[in-house]
Amino acid sequence: MAWQGLHGIVELRDGLNVLINGAGGGVGPIALQLLKQHDIEVTGVDNASKLELMQSVGFDHVIDYQKEDFTRSGKRYDVIFDTKTCYFPTHYLRALRPNGSYITVGGSTPRLLSTVILSRLIKRLSGKQFRLIGLRAAQGLEEMAPLFESGILKPVVDGPFELPQAADALRYYLGGTQKGRIAITVSTG
Ligand SMILES: NC(=O)c1ccc[n+]([C@@H]2O[C@H](COP(=O)([O-])OP(=O)(O)OC[C@H]3O[C@@H](n4cnc5c(N)ncnc54)[C@H](OP(=O)(O)O)[C@@H]3O)[C@@H](O)[C@H]2O)c1
Repeated sequence: MAWQGLHGIVELRDGLNVLINGAGGGVGPIALQLLKQHDIEVTGVDNASKLELMQSVGFDHVIDYQKEDFTRSGKRYDVIFDTKTCYFPTHYLRALRPNGSYITVGGSTPRLLSTVILSRLIKRLSGKQFRLIGLRAAQGLEEMAPLFESGILKPVVDGPFELPQAADALRYYLGGTQKGRIAITVSTG
């Protein structure tokens, strides 16, 4: 989702200012690392329990969404990359710089629908791009695999859990306090 949401959708280049909303889950840290292949300033938004991990993987700024609504802070971003779509488009609009792009890969259904329905009107009135990205199976894996192999991209993994602990791992995941992706080790022996 990180790859597909960023590559070919916006031109990634030095000097951009990007915000990732819902940045401490599975997609956010990978999106950050893709952005950091350029000299891009990245802000991450998530709950307080994930901010330390986010700083450790390289976010320049972190925001606790339970304390601060970034769309009201007055700061503007070139790109907002969203995994949670928890605001209506008008809120994101005011946090985008002129010609900025809002890209979402998931979140609340009514808000995702409003993003799709209003995107043309927003583009015409403000010049800003609003995009909902649908996952395409395996697209980008060939480009990403060498980046993982060479250590340029590092997955953020919580666990790994052994297979007999799979039920506990799922409960943990559903509790929403996991850091990055949960991994379960499967032995083929
Ligand atoms: N487009 C597609 O085709 C497609 C396909 C598969 C998945 N998806 C979607 O892609 C997204 C994947 O992201 P992911 O794997 O990184 O999800 P994730 O691991 O669940 O991470 C999302 C993060 O957002 C945080 N969050 C919750 N409410 C928030 C708010 N109001 N403001 C800011 N952050 C908030 C969550 O923290 P808490 O602990 O506070 O909840 C969590 O850390 C999901 O929305 C999924 O539904 C899309």
